Amino acid sequence: MKKILFVCLGNICRSPMAEAIFKEKIEERGLAAKYDGDSAGTAAYHIGETPDPRTLSTLASHGIFFTHRGQQFDEDLNRQFDYIIAMDSTNKQNIERLIGRADKLYLMRDFDAIARGADVPDPYYGGEDGFEKVYQMIDRSISSLIDFLENK
Ligand code: 4NP
Repeated sequence: MKKILFVCLGNICRSPMAEAIFKEKIEERGLAAKYDGDSAGTAAYHIGETPDPRTLSTLASHGIFFTHRGQQFDEDLNRQFDYIIAMDSTNKQNIERLIGRADKLYLMRDFDAIARGADVPDPYYGGEDGFEKVYQMIDRSISSLIDFLENK
């Protein structure tokens, strides 16, 4: 079982969306026994909270029903996971500040053929359409991430 942790800032918008899409895709591809996913934030603002309503409505519009409680990334979570996928370069830097440089640490869009290595922008302060754009980036990236994991 390989464990993948998705990390953003607040753990209410981007990383829970990534966790939900990852779980949906591994289920669809018959890989649910091989992989597990979870998500966390580098900040403590939203510990214990459910995802942003716009995250949940965007997922639901794609037929994905999901829940999660916010948790903060820490050394203990780092030890539990085989891969850590940061949503943007600031999240990645904050993770590196805690755990140092790590081969298991990637950016979500390292797996996006359209804009390799770009950030998944924070949709928190924008409108609903920002969430759909983020969904499309993450959806594309997760498909390639799963291909990458399967080719390991
Ligand atoms: P996320 O979005 O990192 O994608 O979960 C944010 C959620 C909350 C805040 C910032 C970003 N905040 O400042 O509270």
